[in-house]
Amino acid sequence: MPIVVFTDPQGQQHQVDVPEGRNLMQAAVDHLVPGILGDCGGVCSCATCHGYVAADYLDKLPPRTETEVYMLEGVPELRDNSRLCCQIRMRPELDGIRIQLPDEQI
Ligand code: FES
Repeated sequence: MPIVVFTDPQGQQHQVDVPEGRNLMQAAVDHLVPGILGDCGGVCSCATCHGYVAADYLDKLPPRTETEVYMLEGVPELRDNSRLCCQIRMRPELDGIRIQLPDEQI
């Protein structure tokens, strides 16, 4: 099963198995990874699943949707590699993806 490695705001790494098709926010919440909330349940309306995606995986992701762009405008520290984890569904080519969680969510 593909994995994602989350680094929480305290610098601890969490390796999580994610079934294909599952979104990465839900996978993190299921495994109680600190630093990610997922308040809206994954419908792109809260931005509490913000994370910074490692550069070598950015090209493998679909572009941000208009809604994701809008929601990201409200996060405390927006970066070029900012994504909402609920908008990323696991696919084989994302195996090993690394995501740094921000110091604070919204
Ligand atoms: S969980 Fe709400 S925007 Fe991702």
